[in-house]
Amino acid sequence: MHSSIKAKHLFDIPKITDGRGDLSFLQYPTHVPFMISRAYFLYNVPENTARGFHAHRELQQAMIAVSGSFDVILDDGRNREKVTLNRPDQCLLIGKRFWREMENFAPGSVCLVLASCSYDESDYIRDYDEFLRIVGGE
Ligand code: TYD
Repeated sequence: MHSSIKAKHLFDIPKITDGRGDLSFLQYPTHVPFMISRAYFLYNVPENTARGFHAHRELQQAMIAVSGSFDVILDDGRNREKVTLNRPDQCLLIGKRFWREMENFAPGSVCLVLASCSYDESDYIRDYDEFLRIVGGE
């Protein structure tokens, strides 16, 4: 597994703590390198269930475990790396053309994703061999 994937894409989100609790925030362009067009979240993921298994042609995403924990496997076509997200003040940036798989969701976990574009099925690469052909041609 290749360590530079993690080093480039995982960062701490600002956290404001006072007697009322914690507040974290993300904004463009300070923390996220794209204008946020869409948010979606995964929750009620059963144990032993994996999701993802795709890449995107152009979409960029920021992923946060706002509750609980899960593992994200990132694959750039040459290297694979597993990143555990388990803090609401940590963010994983996923650039375009990264294959991703999410697994090992703890009960009650919520995976928040901020995305650079509206939903567009034609942006998905759902076939791993096609993904390898696309990144291999770069
Ligand atoms: P999908 O991206 O395949 O989920 P995951 O990668 O987490 O396993 O999306 C599951 C379904 O939800 C699929 O039918 C597309 C739909 N969907 C939307 O309609 N809008 C969205 O913003 C997203 C992310 C998914």
